[in-house]
Amino acid sequence: MQEQLSQINQIIAEIKDFQADTKEKLEIFKSKFTGKKGVITALFDQMKNIAAENRKAFGMELNKLKDIAQEKFKELAEAVEAKSEGSSTKPNDLTLPPIPNTLGSIHPLVQTRARIVEIFERIGFTQSEATEIEDDYHNFTALNFPPNHPAREMQDTFFIEKSKSDSETSSDILLRTHTSSVQIRLMEKQKPPIRSLMIGRVYRNEAISARAHCLFHQVEGLYVDENVGFADLKQTLYHFAKEMFGKDTKVRYRPSYFPFTEPSAEIDVTCLICKGKGCNVCKYSGWVEIAGSGMVHPKVLENCGIDSEKYTGFAFGMGIERVTMLKYQIKDLRLFTENDVRFLRQF
Ligand code: PHE
Repeated sequence: MQEQLSQINQIIAEIKDFQADTKEKLEIFKSKFTGKKGVITALFDQMKNIAAENRKAFGMELNKLKDIAQEKFKELAEAVEAKSEGSSTKPNDLTLPPIPNTLGSIHPLVQTRARIVEIFERIGFTQSEATEIEDDYHNFTALNFPPNHPAREMQDTFFIEKSKSDSETSSDILLRTHTSSVQIRLMEKQKPPIRSLMIGRVYRNEAISARAHCLFHQVEGLYVDENVGFADLKQTLYHFAKEMFGKDTKVRYRPSYFPFTEPSAEIDVTCLICKGKGCNVCKYSGWVEIAGSGMVHPKVLENCGIDSEKYTGFAFGMGIERVTMLKYQIKDLRLFTENDVRFLRQF
C-alpha cells in the first residue's frame, strides 16, 4: 500500500508539471495518464492486491488522482484550442458583405437652412453675414427703435456692456437679438438694388422651454430697389411657403408692428399637423405664425444713406427652428441642442 501511495504522489507531481502546447503533446498526456493503457487504469487494476482494510482509503486516493488528471487535461486542451484559433491563417472571406460605415446625419436645422437658401437663391437672393456681438446702434437705433422705446423690452436683450444712463444706450454692446442688424450693415456699404438673406444665430434672454430658447436661428430677407411694393412682399413669401411646405399650403397676412417696417404684417401658414382643422400645436386656430415682415421704414433707409424718395423695400424674418418644427412636426425646441443621436439620426 505504502508503495502505491508514493507512486500516486509522484504521478500527481508529474501531471502538475506537464506542459502541452500542441495536439500531439495532448495525445501523449492522454496515453500516459488518463487513457485505457495509462498509469491510472493500471493502478485501478492493482486494487485487488490491496489488503481489504486499506482498499477504501486507497480507492479514495486513486479517485483524487483521476480527478486531478482529468482537470489538467481539460485545462491543457482549452489552451491548445485557444492557441490554434489565435494563429489561424485562414484567408479572409471576400464574399462576405462589408461592415457598413456608420455615417453621421446633417442636423435638421442645417437642412432647413439649406432648403430656405435654395428657395430664395432661385429668385435672386444673395447671402450676407455680420457678427453676433453687436452694438446698440445696429441692433436697435438704426432700426428706428427710439431710446427708451418699449419695443426694446420686447427683445429681452443680453448685454455685454451696458451704459449707466438710458440716454446713452448707443454705447451698449450686446448679443444681437435678431439678424436685422445685418440689414443695416449691408445697406451701409451696398446701395440698391439689394436682394439678400441674413442668416445666423440670435440671442434672447428667455427661460428655456419647449417653445422658447435663449439662442435660436433666424433667416431674414431684404429687398430694396425702385418700385418695390407690398405685393412683391406678399408674392415672395407666398412662393416660399408653397415651396417649403407644399403647394396646398395657404398663407395669410395679419397686421402687426415692428419699429423698422411700416406697414408691418405677421405671416401665418395653415397648420401642417392638422391641415387647418385645429390641433394643440396651432392652438385650435388652424394657423401657425412663421414670420414677421413689412415695408422697410423710410427712416431706416435714410439712416443707411439710401434715398427713401427713390427707393422702397420689404423685409421679413423667420426662425429656422419654427420652420423645422412645423415641417417635421417636432414639438420640443430643446431637442435641437441636446445632441441626442436617437433624435438626430432620424433626419
Ligand atoms: N426682426 C424681427 C424679429 O426678430 C422680424 C422681422 C424681420 C420683422 C424683418 C419684420 C421684418 O422679430
